[in-house]
Amino acid sequence: MDRRTFIVANWKMHKTPEEAAQTAESIITSLSSLPATADIALAPSFPALLTVAEKLKDTPFLLAAQNVHTEPQGAFTGEISAPMLKACGCQFVIVGHSERRQYSSETDSLIQKKIRASILNKIGPILCVGESDAQRNEGRTFKVLDKQVREAVKGLSVTDAEFLILAYEPIWAIGTGKTASVDQVQEVHAFLRETLADCFEKDLAKRIRILYGGSVKPSNIKELIALSDVDGALVGGASLDPETFVSLIRNGL
Ligand code: G3P
Repeated sequence: MDRRTFIVANWKMHKTPEEAAQTAESIITSLSSLPATADIALAPSFPALLTVAEKLKDTPFLLAAQNVHTEPQGAFTGEISAPMLKACGCQFVIVGHSERRQYSSETDSLIQKKIRASILNKIGPILCVGESDAQRNEGRTFKVLDKQVREAVKGLSVTDAEFLILAYEPIWAIGTGKTASVDQVQEVHAFLRETLADCFEKDLAKRIRILYGGSVKPSNIKELIALSDVDGALVGGASLDPETFVSLIRNGL
């Protein structure tokens, strides 16, 4: 099954709007001669979404957000709604990142509501799932991931789930320089695809893209992308510097 490669730059809480625009411009210029054989999305923090959206206009590059509220509008100070993201030109939004689960106490049920709000606005949710070091060492990886996926997609129809993208981000690999081994990654991605088939249907599960995230670098992207159930990457640190991110993309395509 041919699934189009998808590489997403998660800039987290880095870059002012101006810095983000400059980085985006540098990436676009460096990759302009690259054949459009993959989807490349930039996920700046919210204020920079606007300046990056301007740079991405009329290019094949896609815009993603890092978070979204469950409601379309209302008295939710500091929050950002899916209609607002849509108005900024967002096609995707990262949902359930382990850092938000940890620092913002996001629960599976809150994540499920965020996924529904995204899909309602035809924004593709990139659902992040992943186990901690302790959970892996205790042999609970598949139990943890199974629960995270099933809780997050509860109530979604097959049509809704066409918008869904999964990202496996083992917490112990995020920002640590310690990437999961290709055997670990393929084993988990195959398990996630089976879980999706059980939640929805086999054909849909074959179409849903599953990204890997956690210390992806120019030196390891090739072996990761070569795995049969890996359809791309969610890149943190290695996406902040345009030259590094460009070489990661070149190596991965
Ligand atoms: O969302 C991607 C991010 O969590 C991975 O971070 O720095 O390990 O590539 P990093």
